[in-house]
Amino acid sequence: MNDIKSVRGMRDVLPDETPQWQWLEARFRQMAHRYGYQEMRLPLLEPVSLFERAVGVSTDIVSKEMYNFRDKSGENITLRPEGTSGCLRAVLENNMCYHKTQRLWYQGPMFRYERPQKGRLRQFTQFGAEAFGMPGADIDAELIFMVRDLFTGLGLENHVRLEINSLGNSSERQLHRQALVNWFSHHQQLLDEDSKMRLAINPLRILDSKNPRLQTLIEQAPRLTDFLQQDSQQHFATLCELLDKAEIAYRINPRLVRGLGYYSHTVFEWITDDLGAQGTVCGGGRYDGLAELFSGKPLPCCGFAIGIERLLLLLAATNRTVTDHRHVPDIVVTSELSDGGISALLLAEQLRRRFTTLRVLTDSSGARLKRQHQNALNSQCRIIITLNHDGHIRLWDLQSQQQSETDNAGLMTMIAARQQHWQKSTPNSDRP
Ligand code: HAM
Repeated sequence: MNDIKSVRGMRDVLPDETPQWQWLEARFRQMAHRYGYQEMRLPLLEPVSLFERAVGVSTDIVSKEMYNFRDKSGENITLRPEGTSGCLRAVLENNMCYHKTQRLWYQGPMFRYERPQKGRLRQFTQFGAEAFGMPGADIDAELIFMVRDLFTGLGLENHVRLEINSLGNSSERQLHRQALVNWFSHHQQLLDEDSKMRLAINPLRILDSKNPRLQTLIEQAPRLTDFLQQDSQQHFATLCELLDKAEIAYRINPRLVRGLGYYSHTVFEWITDDLGAQGTVCGGGRYDGLAELFSGKPLPCCGFAIGIERLLLLLAATNRTVTDHRHVPDIVVTSELSDGGISALLLAEQLRRRFTTLRVLTDSSGARLKRQHQNALNSQCRIIITLNHDGHIRLWDLQSQQQSETDNAGLMTMIAARQQHWQKSTPNSDRP
């Protein structure tokens, strides 16, 4: 038995699964294109300090979950735990928002050292979209429209729900934070150890506590909503109005704070009840203060990211899987000649050059002809070609069950006729 295993929480995507991935990736691409978002390809490695500053040292992601290491020059590097920070870094570094707005998207693996379970991996894949330089609630709404559009296109509209909240600006949050510290300090004797620690580091996180003994205290704690000034209230009200007009159902969840420290104003999550504990399929929001933290210049920003593995689990749980015939060969070339497969290889290559849309494979297993035929039948191909000892070429059409003996020129004519017939009978299929 092979005793070398993949790293815990990091999984292989096998050929059975890749068609589903490719199909979903095409959907993302199409959605981004329709909304005018352009693709960014970002490095997997970033400086640790990027996430310390952007996501925040007191968050679980930065304090516990990053894959940090020193490279050969002693630089402190990490495998990116998310895409937003790197995307903004790239936008600022390449001066992409000088007198310009940007709508961008990215896709790729992210890394977090979390406890693996269903829907939670240490290497997972996000599709993300970020909009830069646009301050209004219309862009928050546009991003939510995009996700709605995707979910509706996937037939998942009844399996996900949207929750939104406003986190206001930093001075409103500061006032709220102080009020929380006062409140929980006043009731310190009721707090558990975990919450006492959070009180010192990040009192907002106490609101996330699942401890049933704390729920009343949390319910009664000061709410951020009560600290929002007119501008923040207006931004949120506009978003709600736009969602209403676009007939997107949502719930305002005043306890939705998200686990990353960079958010301001709008935050949102799309949640499913079909996946158990890891039900957040998409998370996002506005992070207007972050660019200033990096570059000293303000830049309004807003975005979201979807977890692709979770979305695939949801599609499987709701029986929305694709059948993809592209991996099925059109022609398999078998041979009983004892020339080490050379004739079969050359014939297959001749067929590929002549019929450029056909998928042609050789059986290079070295098995006897009967076994080669069985392999070809198992592959569900349309035609089996056999090179016989007597110099003849046999064509076995598995659809009509016709078998014919021919020579090379005759074979080419027969395949051309069949290809034409396939194109006519299934013009829109994956198969040519
Ligand atoms: P996030 O909520 O940390 O937000 O992650 C977004 C999505 O990635 C989650 O909703 C979930 O579907 C998926 N995800 C997160 N962690 C895991 C994991 N360990 N295993 C599997 N899937 C996971 C962000 O990352 C922000 N950058 C989103 C954003 C973009 N905000 C503004 N722009």
